[in-house]
This record gives sequence, structure tokens and C-alpha cells, in this order.
Amino acid sequence: MDTPVDTKLIDGAAHARAVRAELRPRVEALRSSGVVPGLAVVLVGNDPASRVYVRSKARACEEVGLYSEQHDLQGSTAEEQVLERVRMLNRDPRIHGILVQLPLAAHISVDRVLHTISPEKDVDGFHPCNVGLLATGNPVFAPCTPAGVLRLLEREGISPEGKRAVIVGRSNIVGKPVAMMMLRKHATVTICHSRTRELGGVTREADILVAAIGRARFVTGDMIKPGAVVIDVGINRLPDGKLAGDVDFASVHGRASRLTPVPGGVGPMTIAMLLENTVLAAERTAKTA
Ligand code: GUN
Repeated sequence: MDTPVDTKLIDGAAHARAVRAELRPRVEALRSSGVVPGLAVVLVGNDPASRVYVRSKARACEEVGLYSEQHDLQGSTAEEQVLERVRMLNRDPRIHGILVQLPLAAHISVDRVLHTISPEKDVDGFHPCNVGLLATGNPVFAPCTPAGVLRLLEREGISPEGKRAVIVGRSNIVGKPVAMMMLRKHATVTICHSRTRELGGVTREADILVAAIGRARFVTGDMIKPGAVVIDVGINRLPDGKLAGDVDFASVHGRASRLTPVPGGVGPMTIAMLLENTVLAAERTAKTA
């Protein structure tokens, strides 16, 4: 039995507040030159979790002084109509950032929608242009959740340089981009997924472990090297209605040196990074106008 480790919880809500406060002077500078950064969020259908996220994005925009508008489309909306809405927003000068909330219904191609968003307004960083720029090491818009993870580490004074970073999950939204960003910060990176053999053996190598598989309490204490930093990206709804991360908090607490809670860890930072990307998009437009 290893000796218990004193686990410090990373307060994502407090870090996000600080990031939002840092954005205010940038928003003020834009506003005094006549530009109000604007974000459009497109929500297709009625997924309750998506509704909650979209509402918190709108609230955060308001708090920082951004203009935001929400485009609600029915779940049965044809793909071409979604694409047409995106093209309209591409042309709208009040809108600097466009986010189409995922997941989308099965009859709509995620790729076609994401490829239609103008790369200059792609504050999610999901357009192949922005994915490519991230992969080659010159990102403009990094995806918000991975950017939030890296910013949390930076703000906690944890450098990935030379460390073993293990990412559990290979999604385009989190796993792959967070791996790219860790690599850019000179970590030695391993991506694990559902077919990885001896998963625990790999995760126990991690100095920094990022859990992004979308399965409640999947990462347990025995999978963690004592003293590792554990970042939990998961938000899963349990049968009793409570939220749980991808990390089994009870068994990892006392083993990790730092741990992000769910809720209140990565989630608030994702939204703060979305605001930052929108402000950046507005600044870039203002410069080239
Ligand atoms: N659904 C879950 N996470 C995200 C995200 O980061 N962006 C978008 N557009 N949809 C999501």
C-alpha cells in the first residue's frame, strides 16, 4: 500500500474567473474602437445537456461584455438549412465567432457543418485548417476544452516539459488536440483508448493524466502513479441525476497530487477559452479591417 498523498483540488471556477477578468480590458479596447466581439451559437434539436451548456455560454458572454446570439433549429432541420445558417453567420459582420453545438443529429454530417464554418470565425478550432495549424505547431484557435486544460496547468505552475502525459480518449474534440498541445509543450505523450491493452500499466506511467473517455468513474486510484496530476474532462450524468467525471474521485483522491473536480474543474475553463477565442477573432478582424 502506498502512503496517501495530500491531494490539492484545482479550482477551475476560480481560474476561469481570473481568465474572464483578464479579457475585460481587451473587450474594452475593442469596444472603444467600435467593435463589440460577437459569438453565435447554433443549437440543433433539444438535447438537455447541450441546452445547459449553451445557456452558460450566453451568460458568460454577457458577463464579459460580448454580444451573443443563439440560433435554435429544430432537431428535424435538414442539413442544407444548417449549412445555410452557418453561411449566413459567416457573412454577418457582427459575428466574430461561430459555434455549432455538438453532437448533431445523425442525418447531419458533422464534417460538412464544421468545414462550412469560416476558419476565421471557427472559435471551436474544429475546421481542418485550424486542426492542421494546431498539428503543425502554429495554432490560431485551439479547441476550447484542450486549451482550458493546458491553461489550468499553466496557471497552477505545472509545466508539461519533459513529463509523461497520458491521455485517455482519442476524440477530435479533446483527446487528439490535447495530445498535440501537450506535445507542443514538450511532454512525452501517449494516447490510450478502448482497445489499449494493459491500460492501467500505461496510465501508471503518467506524470500528467487527462481523462477524456466519456465513461463515468472509469479511471480509478490503482491506475494512478502516486503524486500524478489528474485532469478530469468527463461530465457524465449518473442514473440518480448527479454528475460524475471520468475519474473515480473517491479512489483517486489521496493518490493524485492535484485533481480537478467535476463539476467546477475543466468545465468553467472551457467556456472561458471560448470567450478568449471570440475576443481573439474580433481582434484579428479589427486589425485586418
Ligand atoms: N459539445 C461538447 N463539447 C463541445 C465543444 O467544445 N464544442 C462544441 N461545438 N460542441 C461541444
